[in-house]
Amino acid sequence: MANFAIMGFGIVGSGVAEVLRMNGESIARKLGEPLNLKYILDVRDLSATPYAKQAVKDFSVLENDPELDVVVESIGGAKVALEFTRRALLAGKHVVTSNKELVATHGKELLAIAKEKNVNYLFEASVGGGIPVLRPLFQCLAGNQIQEIVGILNGTTNYILTRMVKGGVTFAEALKEAQSKGYAEANPAADVEGLDAGRKICILSDLAWGREVRPEDISIQGISHLDLKDVDIASKAGYRVKLLGRALRLEDGRQAAYVAPHLVPEDCPIAPVDDVFNAIMIRGNAVGDVMFYGRGAGDLPTASAVMGDVLDALAHRAKRRDLGWSESAPLIRQEQDLPLFWYLRSESAPEGGEKLAEGAYITGPLSVKDARELAEKVNAAALLPVLR
Ligand code: HSE
Repeated sequence: MANFAIMGFGIVGSGVAEVLRMNGESIARKLGEPLNLKYILDVRDLSATPYAKQAVKDFSVLENDPELDVVVESIGGAKVALEFTRRALLAGKHVVTSNKELVATHGKELLAIAKEKNVNYLFEASVGGGIPVLRPLFQCLAGNQIQEIVGILNGTTNYILTRMVKGGVTFAEALKEAQSKGYAEANPAADVEGLDAGRKICILSDLAWGREVRPEDISIQGISHLDLKDVDIASKAGYRVKLLGRALRLEDGRQAAYVAPHLVPEDCPIAPVDDVFNAIMIRGNAVGDVMFYGRGAGDLPTASAVMGDVLDALAHRAKRRDLGWSESAPLIRQEQDLPLFWYLRSESAPEGGEKLAEGAYITGPLSVKDARELAEKVNAAALLPVLR
């Protein structure tokens, strides 16, 4: 029998217990032995739940149990979760997480501890919810040089945009729905202002190129300043507006990463991706473009990815998965020289701009700095990058 524990019994943690309840038999068959949920660590009182027997409040119970193989960290944040993850790894436990904040900000350190202790630190659920994307990136696409990663990385904002545009509900109503469905972060500003997508594009970039990109070093813009007028103009002109995370590696080895709402041409496979769904396109120099699609948030989809990692950690007990990234990447400052195409809404036509609709233009390629200067010059009411 293999034993695991769940730390943090919120949306993801309780989803993991539910997946084991639903699928315990087939999980045991695939594992070759039963998988036992031995502990649930949470500050809440679980005595009136079916999990009263597993409930503990003291982390050292997990840390000191030699029979505990895997710990699932679904606490969230980078405080208690960081301390308990460090201690679990140092105690020789495999750790599986959905915590993108922790992976994006402390992944380098935690992977180094995992390596030293010869255990796995796996985090498939930290990007794209239930979509298998990190493992394909570091395993199935390992024969490629990755050139670009771009996608919808936040389910909450995609859900909000879809409900506002197609359902006619207000921003506040759509956010409330996303919260009630368990999609949003504890502080939904992380979704709405783009930070959650920023953490995810950093993790993808770290894994793709093996060098750390930190969320605080990239440009991040969410959907809070998006005007539905631009969504409407774009849709009449054959574009959809989507919040995208994007990471690129240029031939000289420099990298760029950023998050912003983009105009996406309708014939791009990302354009019709709605609701809580995420879609991530990866371009490799051998495979070309591949796209990963599925539910990017929610209890059971995220728990699906966590459970896959629990089984993978147990399958790799003897020879750990060697993931990791080292020194920080030489980043292009977008303001300087990453050339993009831009949508501008302005009364007067910008020089070189191609008319999209009355009072709306597309221009480029221009760096962010040049695009901002141009927008100021023509007194533009909106400036958004266009995916090309
Ligand atoms: N709040 C996140 C989202 C949860 O909406 O995508 C999944 O990471």
